[in-house]
Amino acid sequence: MAVRPIIIAPDPRLKIKCAPVRVVDDEIAELMADLLETMYHAPGIGLAAPQIGAAMRVIVVDSARKEEEPQPLKMANPELVSASKELWAYEEGCLSLPEHYAEVERPARICVKYIDETNTAREIEAEELVATCILHEMDHLDGTLFVDHISALKRNMILRKLVKTKKLKQQDAAA
Ligand code: NI
Repeated sequence: MAVRPIIIAPDPRLKIKCAPVRVVDDEIAELMADLLETMYHAPGIGLAAPQIGAAMRVIVVDSARKEEEPQPLKMANPELVSASKELWAYEEGCLSLPEHYAEVERPARICVKYIDETNTAREIEAEELVATCILHEMDHLDGTLFVDHISALKRNMILRKLVKTKKLKQQDAAA
């Protein structure tokens, strides 16, 4: 297991449609473990493979609070089976858009099918924060960021600030 660098937006690697996993073998299980370790290290409550430069349909989620037991979910090829009409709003953030947050509305309850780290097909029902987290990470697999769900005005403001921060970091590195 290893903590891997997280790609920061805007970046073309965060805008691609990721390929499905054929089989969850040792390599994919290791990718899942790396994702989880990178996510806990950040810290964050979800991470998708493209955020560490792996263009594959793999995500991890753990929205348990600090005082709770960890509840890691490792998912390959997650697919939405059903979603409630009822929506749930949450102030979302993303490890690829550090320090920026915006309220996004998503289905309050979902059912998702996926393949776990032992290559077993599973189905899970989730609601509220866990559902939001899974949907946010699934979005990453199609190159969609949470800022794509908000107004263009607000999105562009956040992306401009991220570009500015990147430039400052490059200048610091060069100095
Ligand atoms: Ni994200």
